[in-house]
Amino acid sequence: MGKSLQAVRGMSDVLPNQTANFLQVEADLKLLALIYGYREIRLPIIESTALYERTIGETSDIVSKEMYTFEDRNGDWLTLRPEGTAGCLRAGIEHGLFYGQIQKLWYLGPMFRHERPQKGRYRQFTQFGMEVVGTSLPTADVELIAVGARLWKWLNLSDQVRLEINTLGTPAVRESHKKALIQYITPFRDLLDEENLVRLEKNPLRILDSKQDNLQAVIANAPSLQDFLDPESQSHFEKICQGLEALGIAYHINPTLVRGLDYYQHTVFEWITDLLGAQGTLCAGGRFDGLVAELGGEPTPAVGFAMGLERVIALMQNKTDPDPQSPDVFVIVLDQSAATYANTLCEHLRDAIPTLFIANGFYESSAKSQFKRADKSGALWALVIGQSEMESNGVTVKSLREMNGQITLNKVDLIDYFMEQIKEQMNE
Ligand code: HAM
Repeated sequence: MGKSLQAVRGMSDVLPNQTANFLQVEADLKLLALIYGYREIRLPIIESTALYERTIGETSDIVSKEMYTFEDRNGDWLTLRPEGTAGCLRAGIEHGLFYGQIQKLWYLGPMFRHERPQKGRYRQFTQFGMEVVGTSLPTADVELIAVGARLWKWLNLSDQVRLEINTLGTPAVRESHKKALIQYITPFRDLLDEENLVRLEKNPLRILDSKQDNLQAVIANAPSLQDFLDPESQSHFEKICQGLEALGIAYHINPTLVRGLDYYQHTVFEWITDLLGAQGTLCAGGRFDGLVAELGGEPTPAVGFAMGLERVIALMQNKTDPDPQSPDVFVIVLDQSAATYANTLCEHLRDAIPTLFIANGFYESSAKSQFKRADKSGALWALVIGQSEMESNGVTVKSLREMNGQITLNKVDLIDYFMEQIKEQMNE
């Protein structure tokens, strides 16, 4: 027998008992996209390597060391997508989606980065992204942040995440800040490791993001981009802040937030949690007004974000919320002759309350083992149906969470009973 093969490091299988959370978050995100008026774009997983070099930036971690790049049989250099924004813009330009209109797009799927795997950091991971292309209005930035805030609300995570925002200003602002930074950091060049030496030449702003210990004091006193902001950049950022305040979305301005991809200008933001250790950024984005032109399209402003679903799910699992695939009601059939009656009763209940999740245990094992299964399922109630229930056209409802809670009801009262229970749960 050959040695059994294993999944590639950093690329996880998602097993049947782990897919429930994915299904829930994906369904919520698709619904959010729909109600905010975003349309899906499906993009190839492989693009030409040049696309990422031109957009994400040569000195970025992603391009300099994390891409899965290979030469195909024709000698073309191709890369497994490390993110979705570049491909999304490439497709929009190629198919003329951006002429004279605002496009609100979303995408969902696997991304690939050859990073060192650890909790919350994988070599294949799943991003949900949203991009608004064709407007420079701060309302678009704010709307994208509001989508995130609503998702946290739906997932009951609002109190576990915080929003950090910053502005990187216009390209001209960045240019003058860059000059000042080079001037400031050059006397300390002996402290820089190889990677930061390259950054000093090409993109000194990224040095501020460095974790190098002996650089922290230098970083702390570096000229701040904030001091270089022109009125245009300031006004855009103020409108973002006002927009968020108007929606009651709390934010924290973090002047050191610069992001690891080169294409941003003006707004950058991240949704962060402190509960997942080092990989706490759940969702990140910002404005990339120069990128469409950079890729050969007409100058077109744009803003967007991407969310790492594995991290969102890890946060959901951190909580002790009930399993989203637990039924509300588990049906226990005590007697073979009552099986059809039990089925019709379930259908009757589903007609009346379509959102009630009813699992039928079927009559295939002893009452005792059916009760065990009911308990294990996480259901809140058991419906017990035997001969006497069938003869009286009723059902026994047993609460599985409260001791001795049991009541026998007729079909009509059963519906009222569950309507009442659902209302009570919503008020809790
Ligand atoms: P990013 O910050 O590189 O931005 O990634 C966005 C999110 O993807 C991160 O906040 C994180 O949740 C998740 N993520 C990134 N790398 C990994 C990994 N190795 N393992 C697990 N999750 C990961 C972008 O990709 C931009 N395209 C976002 C954007 C869209 N900006 C504008 N539009």
